[in-house]
Formats: sequence, structure tokens, C-alpha cells
Amino acid sequence: MSQVENAQALKKGALVAFPTETVYGLGADASNEKAVARIYEVKGRPQDHPLILHIASMNDITYWAEEVSDYAIALARSFWPGPMTLIFKRSDAARDFVTGGQDTVGLRVPDHALALGLLQECKKIGVHAIAAPSANRFGHVSPTSAVAVREEIGSYLSRQDLILDGGAAQVGLESTIIDCTGDTPRILRPGAITQAMIEAATGLKVSENNTSEIRVSGSLEKHYAPNAQVLLDVQASEDQGFIAPADVATPAGAIRLASPQTTDEFARVLYSALRDGDAQGLKTIAVIQPSGDGLAIAIRDRLMRASKGR
Ligand code: TXA
Ligand code: MG
Repeated sequence: MSQVENAQALKKGALVAFPTETVYGLGADASNEKAVARIYEVKGRPQDHPLILHIASMNDITYWAEEVSDYAIALARSFWPGPMTLIFKRSDAARDFVTGGQDTVGLRVPDHALALGLLQECKKIGVHAIAAPSANRFGHVSPTSAVAVREEIGSYLSRQDLILDGGAAQVGLESTIIDCTGDTPRILRPGAITQAMIEAATGLKVSENNTSEIRVSGSLEKHYAPNAQVLLDVQASEDQGFIAPADVATPAGAIRLASPQTTDEFARVLYSALRDGDAQGLKTIAVIQPSGDGLAIAIRDRLMRASKGR
């Protein structure tokens, strides 16, 4: 199907799973209450968890948001399209059914040609944003390929729904979420846009106050979890899965699931490696975590939650 047809399907109320540079999203017209309700059904997600609205460009911020600060504009200019979600006070266009009843809204311009093409076609026919969470069942590992989307939610989709294939996600971890409703930016979920990058782009110190009233399901203790039990920073025993940097040898009898050479590669392959472990029916996966700042912080954040189980 062409992008025009994909956009028309969305406009008619279909769900369209689409690739982004972070992970695959499960999209619906952000103004269509029925379509958005189906996202929650397909994911098995609680109704009060807000969705990220994906927009074609930063020109669309003011359709959905109010009180947009200078530092938020600086962030959008620096990192969009890219793996960053900004939280603003919502406009009247952002209804309770996408914000989970909160008075804020999350916006992101994804950096993927297929996603941007779809968003541009949508805009031409009056769809101002695609509301999309990661295209996985609630609490589970986010999908980083179209095949993984089909395995996760294929059986919950209807005939009119679509899964677009844009290859393997380049970043592999969900976007950095930044609360832009205060005087200074605050990171709600770490990702590929790091604290140092945010401080360099805005000239502001990132606030460390993390006692937010804002609900972020990705900050629940248990999230991003495979079926297997995840153990952190221990050697794998026989018949256990093992994910570790390339320079760490595989313990005898363990099943190596990934050997990333760099932190970027670690992020990119982590979720598919966890899925691979599940596909092999492994009960336990041991992971030696990457050290350091930046993206390694986001990897350790997801792994800590994955290790809490489902
Ligand atoms: O990279 C990503 O962000 C991917 C791709 C598809 O864009 N999306 C994603 O969506 O990870 P989701 O729904 O799985 O996680 C988004 C997180 C949730 O934890 C949600 O609670 C939070 O963003 N969120 C959305 N709107 C929010 C808001 N207004 N205030 C606070 N958190 C919000
Ligand atoms: Mg998610």
C-alpha cells in the first residue's frame, strides 16, 4: 500500500503499526477516540496511561501544546526528528483519551523516513498527530522489527489494521522523555538524547528532582520484561541465556544471545536478544551491563526494570 493509502486507513480509524528509529509504535489518529481506545485494547494497557503523539514537524507543537518555553524550542531544534519526547501543557486539541486525563501532552517527531512520510500524508488529510505507544503488550519488551510487532500483537489486530515494515530500529531503545513544563528540563525516562546533550542544547542544568506526579508507565518498576527471568551482572550458568559486551567470554554451557561491540550496538540489539531468548524457551537470561554514561544509563534503566519480572 502507498503512504496515501496508509494515511487514509488511519483516518478511517484503523491502527497502523509503524517503524521509528527507537522502537515500533502502534499508531492511531490522535483525534479519533474509538481508534485510540483500540490501542489500549490491543496492548492490554491501563486507560490512565498517556500516549505519545507523533507529529510531522515542530510546527505542529502549538496545535497540541501551550506555554512552550524557549528551552523546549531549543531542544526541538537540536534533536528533532529524533529519539526525544517533550512533555508540555496540553492544548484543547489533546483530549483526555490520549493524555490519560492529565493536563500535559507528550510530543515527538520520529527520525524514520517511513514514519515521517506517513505523518506528512496524514497532515494533508487533517490528521494532526499519530498517537502511538510502543507496539508491544503492556509491560513487555518493545518491538524493534516488524516481525516482532506481528508476534507481539498480530493476533489482537483486525483486518483493516496495518503493520508497516521499515527494517530493524536503529536506536533500539525508547525515546528520552523530557518534562518541559517547569523552569528547567527534567528527564522522566533516559534514552539516546542524554543529560549532557540536553544541557549543551539548552544551556540549562537538568533538574534532578524526580518526584513527579506525572504518570509514566515506562517508569513503573516492572516493565520492558521478557518471559525469561533477567539476572544482572552475573555469569550465566549452563543452559541460561547470556548477553554481554563482546570482550566478555561466554561461560561454559551458556547460550550467547548477543555480543555487542559498542554501547550503541548494545542498545540496538538488546530487545531482539531478549526476544530470541524467549523464542528459545530459556527460563533465565543473564546480562552483563554496559558501564559509563549516556546511552548506557538508558540501557541499565530498562534492564533494571526488566529484571523485576512481568
Ligand atoms: O521511542 C518511543 O518513545 C516509542 C516510539 C514508538 O515513539 N514510544 C513509546 O511509547 O515508548 P510508550 O507509550 O510505550 O511509552 C511512552 C511513555 C509512557 O511511559 C507514558 O506514560 C509516557 O511516555 N508519557 C506519554 N505522555 C506523557 C505525559 N503527558 N506525561 C508523562 N508521561 C507521558
Ligand atoms: Mg512502551
